[in-house]
Amino acid sequence: MSDLVEVLIIDHLTIKHAGEIFNPDLEIGDFMNFHSYLKECHMEIEEKILFPALKKGRWGDERWFFTKIDQLISDHRLIDSMVQNIVNWYRSGEMGMVIEHLPLYFNILVDHNNSEESYIFGRWKMISDDERFSAMNEARGVIKNFGLKRYLGITGLSEGAFMYMFGPEPAIEKQVA
Ligand SMILES: [Fe+2]
Ligand SMILES: [Fe+2]
Repeated sequence: MSDLVEVLIIDHLTIKHAGEIFNPDLEIGDFMNFHSYLKECHMEIEEKILFPALKKGRWGDERWFFTKIDQLISDHRLIDSMVQNIVNWYRSGEMGMVIEHLPLYFNILVDHNNSEESYIFGRWKMISDDERFSAMNEARGVIKNFGLKRYLGITGLSEGAFMYMFGPEPAIEKQVA
């Protein structure tokens, strides 16, 4: 099984690559599909699993560190609100605004991801093995809720790579499913 932060780093590469190849003339559905993955998988895993686990740690600089995490959550809200504007402009035919704001969306996103890698992710190795193990299983649940095929389609990961990273499902989850 891989580590949750390794999965998120792979996500960050997917996001960076998507920004580099994105075509503003595309079907808005493709963009919305990408953003759904970002919001419902990537940000969801960070906000519901990664950040809360990190907030339970004793770091000595909690005030600074927790403020940093809160700023990252605010970034998520900002990035999400940008999408609503982009979609509205697209639907009202204001393509100039779409072409202007799409690169901005990806630039803000890549800067945001770089901040996570610089200030947040490094601490994950100091979290207990048990906690990191259960975090991976929770993340698998988030991805399955989103739809594994859809997740693989957007990230470009093969099913084999996903299985390698996440390992076999715990027996208890299988019983519930
Ligand atoms: Fe994030
Ligand atoms: Fe991220």
